[in-house]
Amino acid sequence: MILLDGKKVSNDIKNEIAEEVRKMKVQGEKVPHLAAIIVGNDGASLTYVASKVKACERVGFESTMVRMSNTTSEIELLDKIEELNQDDDIDGFIIQLPLPKQINTQKVLMAVDPDKDVDGFHPMNFGKMALDMSTFIPATPFGILELLDRYHVETKGKHTVVIGRSHIVGRPMSILMGRKGFPGNSTVTITHSHTKNITQITSQADIIISALGVPNFLKAEMVKDDVVIIDVGITRVVDETSPKGYVITGDVDFENVSKKASFITPVPGGVGPMTIAMLLKNTLLARELRH
Ligand code: GUN
Repeated sequence: MILLDGKKVSNDIKNEIAEEVRKMKVQGEKVPHLAAIIVGNDGASLTYVASKVKACERVGFESTMVRMSNTTSEIELLDKIEELNQDDDIDGFIIQLPLPKQINTQKVLMAVDPDKDVDGFHPMNFGKMALDMSTFIPATPFGILELLDRYHVETKGKHTVVIGRSHIVGRPMSILMGRKGFPGNSTVTITHSHTKNITQITSQADIIISALGVPNFLKAEMVKDDVVIIDVGITRVVDETSPKGYVITGDVDFENVSKKASFITPVPGGVGPMTIAMLLKNTLLARELRH
């Protein structure tokens, strides 16, 4: 079994980006600037955004965190988005999801200038991705592709089963794995809450990408020998014995599934760190496209 070490690969990518930034500085060019809007006080979202800001510092990007209260109206958020769209200093920005109930997420994501949409969530960018056009690929799926690429995991002709159809991970991942090229050229099955007899499907999979958010859902009996496992789950499970009072738990029963797998991502330290590295990569791309 080979561990797909997202912590190591994301560090390599950050070093590569830091080197690009260093060259920009030497040439007197403006460094990339990422902004993140966070609405409300969700603990996990605050942690993710703080990690994104820290990663910007690490590679030499400028960053701006925009905090808005839980009672922010849709209009107020749309005004802030327009301000960032118009701000020439900002190369790319994200709106951390989920948003509070009073705000229509689709409407908000459609208000982002597609050229600054480093999350790749705007319908124009999502459509371009589906049509094999060059664009911003959502950071988590992009990170998974990068992991498969850097570990030379064969995807051509393989049966890839995606668990979950979220707009952020499952849906784009199912499109990307079936695209022409590498990583891609897989035969893809997407499963979701209405899928019947999921074990029958997962047990035929060469590659399983699980983005369900149910801790330890995928058991050893559900997979075949030599399967490739990508675990996107990051659920906080209460654990009084840990210093934070919780542990981050994946969708996969790692202890038992890893004994059958050829490649597997750990949680934490697998897909999670890759997401942040690829957001930086998209921001670098946005900066290059704008200048
Ligand atoms: N919430 C969970 N994942 C993501 C992500 O990749 N981007 C944003 N903006 N919000 C998220």
